[in-house]
Order: sequence, then C-alpha cells, then structure tokens
Amino acid sequence: MNLSELEKQAIEEINGAKNNADLEQIKIKYLGRKGQITSILRSLKDLKEKERKEIGKEANNLKNNIEEIIINRRLKLFDAEVKNKERKIDITAPGIRIAHGHLNPITSICRKVEEIFQSMGFKIVEGPDIETEYYNFDALNVPEDHPARDSWDTFWLKTKNQRLLLRTHTSPMQVRFMEKNNPPFRIVVPGRCFRYEATDAFHSHTFYHLEGLMVDANISIANFKAVIGEFLRKIFGRETEIRIKPSYFPFVEPGFEVDMRRPSGEWLEIMGAGMVHPNVFKAVGYVPGNWQGFAFGIGIDRIAMLKYKIDDIRLLYSGDLKFLNQF
Ligand code: FA5
Repeated sequence: MNLSELEKQAIEEINGAKNNADLEQIKIKYLGRKGQITSILRSLKDLKEKERKEIGKEANNLKNNIEEIIINRRLKLFDAEVKNKERKIDITAPGIRIAHGHLNPITSICRKVEEIFQSMGFKIVEGPDIETEYYNFDALNVPEDHPARDSWDTFWLKTKNQRLLLRTHTSPMQVRFMEKNNPPFRIVVPGRCFRYEATDAFHSHTFYHLEGLMVDANISIANFKAVIGEFLRKIFGRETEIRIKPSYFPFVEPGFEVDMRRPSGEWLEIMGAGMVHPNVFKAVGYVPGNWQGFAFGIGIDRIAMLKYKIDDIRLLYSGDLKFLNQF
C-alpha cells in the first residue's frame, strides 16, 4: 500500500470512530510502537539516501497529519458527549449534596458556655486581645517586679511608648469593667489569650478563657461553688467530679484552682479562681469593705477536650478536616 492509500484508509477509520476507545485502537494501529506508519518510519534506514529523503519527508508529513486528525476527532467526540449529557439531565435523580461548613468545637463550646452563664443572669462582655501592661498586670495587683509575672509567659509587642502585650488572660476585663460599672453585677468575658510557652497536649500558645466576675455586698465562696457546680452540670449534662484546692493568684484572696477528673482517672486543671483581692477593688475606685466578689478564669479548650474526649489540644487548632468533621 502506498502512503497516500494508507493516509486515505487511516482518515476513513478515524472519522468512523464512535468513541475514544475506538480512536485509541486506531491510533495504536497506525502510530503505536508497531503501528503501520511507525514501521514505515523505522524502515527508512534501510533505503538509499535519495529515497530515504523523499519517502522520509512524506512519511513524516503523514504521521503529523494523522496525529492532528486524531486530536480533532477526539475534540469532536468530546463535544458530542457533552451535548449528549446536557440533553440527558435526569430531573428525578437525587441532587448532589453541597458540603456545608460548621463551627469549630471551640466556638460551639464557647456559645454553650455563654448560654449557660446567661441563664444564670451573667452578662457577656468582651475585651481587646492587645492589652496594656497596666490592665494585664499592674491593676491586677501584679506590679512590674512581682515574681507572679513569670506565671504568664508574655508576648510583648514592640512599641515605643506604652508597653503593650497580647493578653495572657481575660482577667484585665475585670478591671476595665469595674472602672465603668458599679456593683451589683455578674459578667463573663470569653476571649482568646496568648502565652509565650511551649505547646504540649494540654497547652497551646493561643487558647481561650472565659473570665467570670460576680460582685455584690455579700458574695462568698459558697456562691462560687454553686455557680460553678451548675455550670458543670449543664455543660456535661451530669454530675462531674471536681476538686478545689488552694492556689495563688495576686488578684484574689483566697485563691484556688479547680480540677476535673478525666475519663482516664487523672485530674485536669480547668480554672483558676478566688475572691477578688481588695487591691483590685481599690485600683478601680471601689471601697473594698463595701463589696465582695468572686472571679474565675475557665480554660475553654480544656472544657472542649473533656466534653469531646479530645486528648491533645493541638488538634483543635490544626485545621485538620479529618478531625474537625467529626464535630
Ligand atoms: C489565669 O490565667 C487566671 N487569670 C485565672 C483566674 C481568674 C484566677 C480569676 C483567679 C481569678 P491560669 O494561668 O491558671 O489562670 O489559667 C486558667 C486556666 O486556663 C487553666 O486552669 C487552664 O485550664 C487554662 N490554661 C492555662 N494555660 C493554658 C494553655 N497554655 N493552653 C490551654 N489552656 C490553658
């Protein structure tokens, strides 16, 4: 068969191809490793130079031409397929489910916690992530040289005049709120906190606190216990085992921390708390003897971990959808 006959035959077959699979077979037949055009090109080396030049040129043109025709046919078949599909919409077929985003477990826990405290008459207040040294420390009875400052490894901001930092806790809002409001009141302050510390399964450099503050003429630790007991019952939906032990925070007196039993049986610290220190009342202009109050700072991440049985806080911030989609 001469080259022009071969070309004619190939083109006929290509145009007759009904689908991609047919086309692929035709391509192999002519251009595959053992294809007819490939064999011609291979056999060129056995021809005399003059013939080789002439037939070589023709055979190469044929190869390029056939390749192009195959591509065009493939596009035509594709167009036809798309059109066919368009026409064949089955309006009774079930729709494609569109994936909806959902709340991060920390956000859902924050909302639940806020709801519970609101049901107990607490108002929600928010404060700035960037704080002054005064509100984060001094007004909370933690002056510059106080050793307790070491408990809060701090991200200081590079500033020229006023010393600013990323708040290490939500306690500064106690002061900001009391400066502008008089007792009696009860507030909670949810918010992000930051600490320049190594992360591990229970510590993150960025995490959430919920500060609580209740001030009135006759508030005692018994009120604190009742409020926290109710909060834990509501958030976990059952009685929880907690222990309250003495602890030191310069802005409360006495101070304590609350631990909760983990499923493994070990204790996990969930909050610091205490009775508001008279020096904090003085800093905001209250007459200390007139008022009493309790304050607490709950680690919201820890509550999420206990509620959802998560054993590593870093998962909450990983952005790993395999993990997050479980909630
Ligand atoms: C405080 O920050 C005090 N402001 C709490 C407080 C408020 C005491 C009012 C008295 C009165 P502490 O550093 O212990 O306390 O933090 C409180 C809770 O936050 C801890 O019990 C823990 O549950 C959680 N927490 C602390 N550090 C981290 C961290 N790096 N990552 C995740 N959670 C943390």
